[in-house]
Amino acid sequence: MSYRFRMLPPRRGRKSRSLGVVIGMGLALAALLPQTSVAAASDEPDLPQAGQDIIATPGSVADGQKLFGLNCTYCHGARGVGGRGKPLQCRDDLTAATVYQTITEGRDSAGLFMPSWNGSIAEPDRWRLAAYILSLRNLPNCK
Ligand code: HEC
Repeated sequence: MSYRFRMLPPRRGRKSRSLGVVIGMGLALAALLPQTSVAAASDEPDLPQAGQDIIATPGSVADGQKLFGLNCTYCHGARGVGGRGKPLQCRDDLTAATVYQTITEGRDSAGLFMPSWNGSIAEPDRWRLAAYILSLRNLPNCK
């Protein structure tokens, strides 16, 4: 029992209160971080039905994240932070349709080359990748 007694923090009014606030903020942040079970929102009515369905499926972001780790981080960095290819985080300018098109056709702009994945990544998986990249708009650092 004396062990438990020693674990009690000294009473220091203000200081211990602010520690509580810091811990509270940490917990709130931690609650924001896991975003893999959340479905990505697509506000594109013209998207093909197959794309809309996959993007609205909660597991698609997590599946897309795995595909991204395998195929895309080499150029776009971990979680799309950027590198040889453009950063893909916090990109409000990208749409599911343009991301899908870029993955399908590849890119060749000013000597910067991205291959076409048309023959190597199946269509549903290209939509899952789009769902993941759209989810990178919602990272805590995008605020
Ligand atoms: C060999 C390097 C490389 C790989 C691997 C690669 N990319 Fe790219 N990616 C690029 C380059 C280079 C660009 C074009 C940058 C530019 O236009 O300036 C690009 C552009 C993009 C864009 C468009 C960004 C924009 O600003 O319009 C998206 C989306 C994208 N890539 C997604 C992916 C995904 C998903 C994968 C994995 C399936 C992938 N890329 C794999 C090099 C790569």
